[in-house]
Amino acid sequence: MTIATPSLGQSILERAEALARFSDMEDGLTCAFLTPAHRQAQAQLARWMEDAGMTVRIDAIGNVIGRYAADSATANPKVLMTGSHFDTVRNGGRYDGRLGILLPIAVVGALRDAGIRLPYHFEVVGFAEEEGLRFKTSFLASSVLAGRFDPALLDRADVDGVTMREALADSGLPGAGDIDALRAAAVDPSTLAGFVEVHIEQGPVLLNRGLPLGIVTQIAGSSRFQVRAEGLASHAGTTPMDMRRDAATGAAEMILLVESRCAQVPTLVGTVGQLQVPNGSSNVIPAACVFSMDIRAGEDGIREAAIADIVAGIERIAAKRSLKASVERVTPVNNAPCARWLMDQFGAVLKKRGHEVFELPSGAGHDAMMMHRIIDVAMLFVRCGNGGISHNPLETITEEDAQQAAEVFVDFLRHFRVKD
Ligand code: GLV
Ligand code: MN
Ligand code: MN
Repeated sequence: MTIATPSLGQSILERAEALARFSDMEDGLTCAFLTPAHRQAQAQLARWMEDAGMTVRIDAIGNVIGRYAADSATANPKVLMTGSHFDTVRNGGRYDGRLGILLPIAVVGALRDAGIRLPYHFEVVGFAEEEGLRFKTSFLASSVLAGRFDPALLDRADVDGVTMREALADSGLPGAGDIDALRAAAVDPSTLAGFVEVHIEQGPVLLNRGLPLGIVTQIAGSSRFQVRAEGLASHAGTTPMDMRRDAATGAAEMILLVESRCAQVPTLVGTVGQLQVPNGSSNVIPAACVFSMDIRAGEDGIREAAIADIVAGIERIAAKRSLKASVERVTPVNNAPCARWLMDQFGAVLKKRGHEVFELPSGAGHDAMMMHRIIDVAMLFVRCGNGGISHNPLETITEEDAQQAAEVFVDFLRHFRVKD
């Protein structure tokens, strides 16, 4: 039986646009964990999953999970899981994460319409939080599903002082933030056949090669930190330059160190995306400066060596300037290689459909990194337009590429074989 799917690409793009209307901001897309917009997006995803013929549950961290149950003739079926996140960065793009939920929902709808059941349970997960915008933690939602939730995170507060525990207690989610409920939301890895994630590439590699799709080889490990430099507040007009203990100029030197150290190795990257002088005034020498630090590399050893050098450098700069510095490690996640047997199943479909089988590493982090801790994972990348820009409202994909990706995914599901 062939499946007529000419409108899948269109449906995916229209739904991405509709979902982007639920936003924490007026003129752009921000969808942070457990805000009203986030809850609306979650409810919308649940409705679309139900419309596609899935049974839906929402777990204790807010993941929306739709199941397309196996053909009743299949004995002891395993679960093939797919999914990605529906939270966003501040003023982000509408496909980052969401493509990996909307595409499989559209595909399941097409399978259902064609009367096709699969010989395994297929689950689509809308992960509630991956970006770390609200509580400065990433992979929160997949860490719950993977049974790796860190209970200490419940005490972490957002910028308004609301803790994650309070946010969950008020959320109406099952368990209301109870640690046992969060633990119980973990999946049993022995029930899983694998985890696959479709994601926009978020870079220019496929675009520059003229390819709509690529297979990910591995996901670069990443470490995030909060750095605090402390000096002494004093008068901007009367304190001589050589008597200052200026936390902001110290931070500036530390940030330049991040840049210069990470520029030494081609696969290493370092970013300071948040920088504040808390309670600063224009006529007061900064007493404190706080910044985030995100360091990534394809090889864990390269990343760890850079971190060691940077932390030592931060201490050296602080001592030279009579500052105090503290470096808090927020989220270390190791490099996650994709499973060759799953990659090959994607490769066989690409080949059969006349695509080049092109493999590339991912520099961005993904929910698959956390799922990798409990089960084999693979990822299908979809070409990103506009020069490959992402984490930016200019992020885009074409309807044709979404269509191609959906057709590949249909074939992948129909030919998927559970590993012996
Ligand atoms: C997620 O988008 C990340 O790579 O930080
Ligand atoms: Mn992202
Ligand atoms: Mn993403």
